[in-house]
Amino acid sequence: LARGPLPADLAGRHVVISAGGTREPLDPVRYLGNRSSGRQGYALARTAVARGARVTLVAANSELPDPAGADVVRVGTAVQLREAVLKAAADADAVVMAAAVADFRPAHYAAGKIKKQEGQEPAPVELVRNPDVLAELSAERARPGQVVVGFAAETDDVLAHGRAKLARKGCDLLVVNEVGERKTFGSTENEAVVLAADGEETPVPHGPKEALADVVWDLVVRRLP
Ligand code: CTP
Ligand code: CA
Repeated sequence: LARGPLPADLAGRHVVISAGGTREPLDPVRYLGNRSSGRQGYALARTAVARGARVTLVAANSELPDPAGADVVRVGTAVQLREAVLKAAADADAVVMAAAVADFRPAHYAAGKIKKQEGQEPAPVELVRNPDVLAELSAERARPGQVVVGFAAETDDVLAHGRAKLARKGCDLLVVNEVGERKTFGSTENEAVVLAADGEETPVPHGPKEALADVVWDLVVRRLP
């Protein structure tokens, strides 16, 4: 794929990216998790480094190698991710929430391994809501003009769900992709529409996750004060 010289249009900027998927422990050996590989977030980190940014990558349970030149902060749960992202966001020009954050976590953590009991049905797992990091970042910008970006994987009426989610979260940009059987998870490619709070809609054709990442940075750069 031929690409021109990369613009250093993020030089002097600090960007924070979350990537991967959170895991919510039930006991010392089990968790509720999701299938996010972290690839899109890592591609955002690599492209931001290439464009001159100082990059903090908050990585949730990804097995990918650390992107050269990025500060990597490893987290496990949604609560840990929130803490790391909010801390790094304090002086950030842009925050991109590419991580798949678990909406719920088990209400109780068993300090010892949960055992099955002879002749007993399993106990139901009670869940509680996790904090919504993207909504919080959007509502309480750590700096004026900070650009906040979310990701959404949707099925069915993808654009309608995306537009509603953009409004609900209050972020500046929402990258919407369609998920299905063979789409997106674990893949190195992606296809998306980037929705902006100002109404701009940017379709990104099927291609490498780096290409989508560069479109995201283009749109972020134009919104930086
Ligand atoms: N997100 C977050 N904190 C959460 C859940 C999601 O910051 N507790 C972020 C994700 O990182 C992503 C965006 O919000 O950037 C959208 O995630 P998504 O799961 O699509 O949104 P939800 O509001 O959880 O909607 P749904 O009920 O469709 O899962
Ligand atoms: Ca969710």
